[in-house]
Amino acid sequence: MQILSTPQELAAQCRAWRAAGESISLVPTMGYYHAGHESLMERGRALAQRMVVSLFVNPTQFGPGEDLAAYPRDLERDAAIARKHGADVLFVPEPQSMYAPDHATWVEVPELAKNLCGLSRPVHFRGVCTVVLKLFLLTGADVAVFGEKDWQQQAIIRRMVRDLNVPVRIETCPTGRETDGLALSSRNVYMTPEERAQAPEIRRGLLHARTLAEKGETSAALLREAVLGHWAEHLPLGRLDYLSVVHPESLEPLEGIAGPALMACAVRLGKARLLDNILLHP
Ligand code: PAF
Repeated sequence: MQILSTPQELAAQCRAWRAAGESISLVPTMGYYHAGHESLMERGRALAQRMVVSLFVNPTQFGPGEDLAAYPRDLERDAAIARKHGADVLFVPEPQSMYAPDHATWVEVPELAKNLCGLSRPVHFRGVCTVVLKLFLLTGADVAVFGEKDWQQQAIIRRMVRDLNVPVRIETCPTGRETDGLALSSRNVYMTPEERAQAPEIRRGLLHARTLAEKGETSAALLREAVLGHWAEHLPLGRLDYLSVVHPESLEPLEGIAGPALMACAVRLGKARLLDNILLHP
C-alpha cells in the first residue's frame, strides 16, 4: 500500500491505473477506524481492481465551535487497517494541499441540505460535497462507498453525482453497530461511561417506532412522540438535536408513512453528537 499525500500524486497514480484498464473504488473517510469503516473497505475491495482509501479530516465541513481540533486521529493504526483490507493507496493530504488560501469554489445541494443535520450544521454538507467531488475528480473512481449511518450525506452525494453527471457509482453499506445496537462512530470516544451506558437507547427508541409502524401506526407525529417518550424515560442525559420522518430520497418531511419513510435523528450525549436512522415500513 502506498501512502500518498498530494493531490498530484493521487491523480497520477489513478491516471496510470485507468490507462492500464483497471477499475478503481474509492472509500472516503476521516480516519480513526472502527468496524464500520472496515466494512466500507471490504466492499470497496470487492468492487474494483484498485482501491483508494482517503483519510482527511476535512476542515470545511466543520462549523465554528465544532470538533475539528478534537476529532480523534491515529494515522499509524488506521494505515495498518487500510493495508489489512487491501487498499492500494491511502491518501492522506494536508489541508493546504486540498484548499488554497483563497479557495473560492463550493459545491452545494441546498434542497437536500436544508433539513436534518443541515439545520444545526449549516456549512457541513457544502464542505462534504466539495471535498467528495474533489476526490471523485482526482481518482476518476468507478465506484465510491459510503455508510448508511450518514443517510443524509449519501442522499446528497447521490443527488450531486446525478445532477453533475459525475461518472461514479455510489454504493452504501449498512450501519455498523456495537453488540448493544449503538451505531459505530469515531465520535463515540467522546462519551463518559455514564453517557455510553444510555447511548443504545437511541437505537431502541427507533426500533420502537419501527415496531409501531409494522403494527399499523402511520402518523409520523405519533411515531415521533413514541420515540421521544422512550427517550424521556431511558435517555435522560440525551439532548435532542432533531428527530424527523422524511422521504428517504428527497429528505422532505412526511406526515404519514404510506410509502418509503426514514426516521432519522441526531442526539447529543455530553460532547458527542450521535446520528442514527431507521427505515419504517407501513
Ligand atoms: O463521512 C465522512 O467521514 C466524511 O463526511 C467524508 C465523506 C469522508 C467527507 O469528508
